Amino acid sequence: SAIFRKGLFGHRPVVPTEPSALAEAAHRAMSKEAWAYVAGGAGQQRTVAANTAAFDHFRLVPRMLANVETRDLRTTLFGVDMPAPLMLGPVGVLELAHPRAEHEVAAAARATGIPMVISTQASVPMEDVAADLGDTPRLYQLYWSKDESIVESFVRRAEAIGSDALVVTLDTHMLGWRTRDLDLGYLPFARGLGIAQYTSDPAFRALVDERIAAGSGMSVRPGLREIPAALSAVASMAQHHPGKVVESLRSGHARAAVETFLDVFSRSDLIWDDLDRLREMTDLPIVLKGLQAPEDARRALEHGVDGIIVSNHGGRQVDGAIASIDALPSIVDEVDGRIPVLFDSGIRSGADILKALALGADAVLLGRPYVYGLALAGAAGVQAVVEHMIAELDLSLGLVGCRSADEIGRELLG
Ligand code: FNR
Repeated sequence: SAIFRKGLFGHRPVVPTEPSALAEAAHRAMSKEAWAYVAGGAGQQRTVAANTAAFDHFRLVPRMLANVETRDLRTTLFGVDMPAPLMLGPVGVLELAHPRAEHEVAAAARATGIPMVISTQASVPMEDVAADLGDTPRLYQLYWSKDESIVESFVRRAEAIGSDALVVTLDTHMLGWRTRDLDLGYLPFARGLGIAQYTSDPAFRALVDERIAAGSGMSVRPGLREIPAALSAVASMAQHHPGKVVESLRSGHARAAVETFLDVFSRSDLIWDDLDRLREMTDLPIVLKGLQAPEDARRALEHGVDGIIVSNHGGRQVDGAIASIDALPSIVDEVDGRIPVLFDSGIRSGADILKALALGADAVLLGRPYVYGLALAGAAGVQAVVEHMIAELDLSLGLVGCRSADEIGRELLG
């Protein structure tokens, strides 16, 4: 079995295999602020809790004597061959979990061959992540900035680093009411963490220059009381990632950069027709992330997108929103195989992945679990989390009587 093959017997794993033990270990290893930001969600955390609890709404019915000796998890999406129907989802501000942030995640992606979705809120410029990834597939996740020159620049950079698709996240045009972060002063953003994609961007830097020349952009915003901290955080980022960030520091733009980022982060006035502009801007496959309603899936199809990700951002946006896994079946039915449907929010184990596939997802994205691995053991921790997911998926697949994702369907669910 996979356990014997991987030699897991006789060795303690790098990080716990038991999902709640993994989270607890990461909790102990992380700062209060980092844990609040990563583990926390919106409001009373109701949707965070629902996302995992709702997997119990679906139960697997194992089938016997199906000759599952040889199993194959490989799949192809957006022209990309993947060793398993699994990606490392876009997670921003990773320097909260590990100082080397995306460098470590990219190393784990490379070691496992699992595609990485690079966040717009990354702690490392996408070009550096791409260099770490080597030939490993990568997707770029876009937050649609208020400044169109930044949108276009991010898209061009995503093309230049060989992105296999553009993931457009629609559910976070405003940050949700994140109570745990609010109660701790929202330090990650006040400190200007997670803005490396911006500070390394020519269009963004031009905007900062303009603001400085115009004498604006240097004022301390109400509520942004952490300006000295912002400067020191950008400075420490520059130590970890010399080059691009350091340029913006040398030109004395750090504070203006943090403030400009806060101003241009994302826009809430987008409508479906705006997607057509993005469609004209790039030939990359466009994948919409954050859909929960079948009606939105229908509109996505009308606008010719290449894939969707059923996600509620890990319960970080709308407290009281339905569990993402409960949203999956009706969206799969609406799409009816015309484009790939991916899933995230609540995946904690290989058995969870199997359920999402049984409900019709073509692949899933990991979020918090790999960040916990990152916090505990850097690249080795991320790699271990991914390997545990794949090993359990592979075992569970065989134990329910299937040899590949093609054989997994809703008939597996009781
Ligand atoms: C996220 N997520 C996210 N999504 C995105 O499109 N861009 C981003 O920058 C981020 N940043 C981010 C930070 C942190 C700390 C978390 C936990 C999540 C959402 C992410 O891609 C995914 O949808 C959720 O993590 C899935 O939920 P679970 O499985 O982590 O609970």
